[in-house]
Amino acid sequence: MQSITLNNGVKMPIIGFGVYQVPDAEECEKAVYEALMAGYRLIDTASGYLNEEAVGRAIKRSNIPREELFITTKLWVQDANYESAKLAFAKSLKKLQLDYLDLYLIHQPFGDYYGAWHAMEELYREGKIRAIGVSNFLPDRLMDLIVHNEIVPAVNQVETHPFYHQIESSAFMKAQGVQHQSWAPLAKGLNNLFGNEVLVSIAEKHNKSVAQVVLRWLVQRGIVVIPKSVKKERIVENFNIFDFELSTDDIEQISTLDTRKSLFLSYRDPEVAKMMGNWKVDL
Ligand SMILES: NC(=O)c1ccc[n+]([C@@H]2O[C@H](COP(=O)([O-])OP(=O)(O)OC[C@H]3O[C@@H](n4cnc5c(N)ncnc54)[C@H](OP(=O)(O)O)[C@@H]3O)[C@@H](O)[C@H]2O)c1
Repeated sequence: MQSITLNNGVKMPIIGFGVYQVPDAEECEKAVYEALMAGYRLIDTASGYLNEEAVGRAIKRSNIPREELFITTKLWVQDANYESAKLAFAKSLKKLQLDYLDLYLIHQPFGDYYGAWHAMEELYREGKIRAIGVSNFLPDRLMDLIVHNEIVPAVNQVETHPFYHQIESSAFMKAQGVQHQSWAPLAKGLNNLFGNEVLVSIAEKHNKSVAQVVLRWLVQRGIVVIPKSVKKERIVENFNIFDFELSTDDIEQISTLDTRKSLFLSYRDPEVAKMMGNWKVDL
């Protein structure tokens, strides 16, 4: 298993399995179990996905030694303050049936995430979390968090796929020692990703699928990927990306697909801050 080393020395698999929008408990447990059986060791969930219990059951059923796993969950906006973050962390741990977490992320750059970060720094120092990080932080927010706190986030999980390369953000994160992790690496299949002519021709050349080419491209950039699928054959396919290499020419072709903007939402839009702030989840 190829891994990267975070800024605190902790090793993280370069490929993991994401479970956003798999709310059905049975389906989620089955998919995570299949992913673990296929060889994935990193599972990416969030309190806001409402499936931590199903993830926990799959982990337990897999019988994989705890130290071989890398489990990530995230703190939702409504819990982004010092006291709530501590309570939310304890709840997540219980639902996951774990006694420590590998990575805990602030899900969104909204609310009192400074208070939350202080709580997370304490939990990290107490040994309850091996690494702490953020998600959806633009470079200015990330720098602000870094300069005002002791612990530099280990990871920033941001939307990254063939239509949104995040070139400057990625270079910025690298310079700060923050590991870039891609969410929606397959762009959720939007924008006809799987039928894209450039990607199809590269895939044919390597005798691989478009999904494999896209995941390989991100991994070759040193970016951690967490594709989601509820289909066993795709779960296996997405993991099978270490037996080929994209050429400089392939990478140049993929660079032409960058639209330099999100397919989903802008973190500079006040309406997004409002929507996230009002997004209450029954956690
Ligand atoms: N931090 C954040 O704010 C944030 C936001 C979004 C996502 N995430 C994380 O990132 C993970 C991945 O992102 P995502 O789930 O939004 O999207 P994604 O992984 O880019 O795409 C998932 C979609 O692609 C399909 N798919 C997967 N593998 C395929 C293959 N080999 N061939 C064809 N179709 C395939 C899946 O369908 P089937 O399931 O039917 O196969 C699903 O519709 C999430 O699960 C979550 O853990 C984080």
